[in-house]
Amino acid sequence: QKVVLAYSGGLDTSIIIPWLKENFDYEVIAMIGDVGQGEELEPLREKAIKSGASKVYIEDLKKEFVEDFIFPTLKAGAIYDGKYLLGTSFARPVIAKRLVEIAEKEGAVAVAHGATGKGNDQVRFELTIKALNPHLKIIAPWRMWNIKSREDAIDYARARNIPVPVTKEHPYSMDRNLWHLSHEGGELEDPWNEPGDHVYLICTPPHKAPDEPEYVEIEFEKGIPVKVNGIKYDGVKLIQTLNEIGAKHGIGIVDIVENRLVGIKSRGVYETPGGTILYTAHGILESITLDRDTLHYKQHVALKFAELVYDGKWYTPLRKALSAFVDSTQENVTGRVRLKLYKGNCIPAGVESPYSLYDKELATFGDDSGVYNQKDAEGFINLFGLPLKVQALLREKRKGL
Ligand code: ARG
Ligand code: SIN
Repeated sequence: QKVVLAYSGGLDTSIIIPWLKENFDYEVIAMIGDVGQGEELEPLREKAIKSGASKVYIEDLKKEFVEDFIFPTLKAGAIYDGKYLLGTSFARPVIAKRLVEIAEKEGAVAVAHGATGKGNDQVRFELTIKALNPHLKIIAPWRMWNIKSREDAIDYARARNIPVPVTKEHPYSMDRNLWHLSHEGGELEDPWNEPGDHVYLICTPPHKAPDEPEYVEIEFEKGIPVKVNGIKYDGVKLIQTLNEIGAKHGIGIVDIVENRLVGIKSRGVYETPGGTILYTAHGILESITLDRDTLHYKQHVALKFAELVYDGKWYTPLRKALSAFVDSTQENVTGRVRLKLYKGNCIPAGVESPYSLYDKELATFGDDSGVYNQKDAEGFINLFGLPLKVQALLREKRKGL
C-alpha cells in the first residue's frame, strides 16, 4: 500500500519517510510542490530517495497558485488580522490539491503532511484533502510520534542514515513561496523583542533602503494585474518582478501577534513586498472604479474571505459564492496606478481608469454651475434628517410632561 507525503526537503519531513515505513509498512511517495520557494528543488529528489522514498514528484504549482488562489484573494482584498496577506494560508490548498491528485493517480490509500498539531497548516491541508477526496486516510506524524525537539529529530535521522544539515539553520520556523516569507519562533516568541535586521531575508530593512524613491506603475484588467511599468507579464513573472522592486525599498514588512485558528496567539513577521504593492495599487484603483455601496459591502466580504482562507476553507460553498460576488465587482476595475516606493512606504502617485467614477466637474471647489445644484441639498437634508428631528421633538415633549 502506498502513501503520498507532502515533502519539503527539510529535516522535519525527511524523517517522516522512514517513520511511515516503520510504523505503517507503507511504500512512501514524496511530493514536492513548487510554489516559488526560490530554492533548487531538484536536489531534494535524491534526498527523498536517500531517506527512503520509492518515488518523487516535483510539481510546478506556481501558475495555478497565482491564478487560482493569489489573484482571487487579491481581488477580494482579503487581509487577516488587519495586516496578514495570507501567504502561507493559500499555499496549503494548492499543495494539498496536487497531493490528492497524485494519491489518486498512484492508487494510494493515504496522504501525509509535516505540519504540527499546534498550527493552522494542519487544518488547511486536511480540510482541502477531505473536500477533494473524503476516502483518503490522513496521517499527521507530528501529532503522533514522540519526537519533540530538533535534537530528537536529528537523533532519529542519524540512526537511519538520513542526511542532517551540517550548517546551523536559521533558528526560526519559516515558510517561503512566491508571495511571501514568514518568520515565527526563536526570539520572535517574545512580542517585546524587535526583529533585528538579520531576520529579513527578502526585504532591505526600510532604514537601509535607498534615499531616492522609485516609481512603479501597475496596470489592471478586471482586477487582475497584467503590466508593470508598461511591460506585460504573466502572473508569476509579474509577482517576481514586483518582489524585486519592493524588496529593494523595504516594502511589505509586517510584524503582528496573530490569532491562530487553534486558539493560540502567535507572533509572526512577514515579508510580502510584491503583494503589498499589488494590494495597495488594487485598492487605489477600486477607490475610483467602485461605487460607494459596492465598495463598502466588499469590505465586509473581504473580512469573511480572509477568515475562510486563513482557516483552510478554500473549497467551501461560501468561499466560492464570495468569489462570484468579488468577480462581479471587478468588471470595471481596469486602469493604471502609480506608486512611489520609499523606505517601506507605498505612496499613491496617480490613478486613472476608463471606468473612473470620479468626476472633477462634480467634485470641484470651483465653479459647479450646471452640474450640481447646491439648492437640491436642502431638501435632501430635510428628509435625510427627518428621523432625528422627530426624536428631538419627542424628547422635548416628554420633558414637558
Ligand atoms: N502564521 C502563518 C499562517 O498561519 C504562517 C504559518 C507558517 N507556516 C510554517 N509552516 N512555517 O498562515
Ligand atoms: C506548523 O504548525 O506546522 C506551522 C505553524 C502553523 O501551521 O500555523
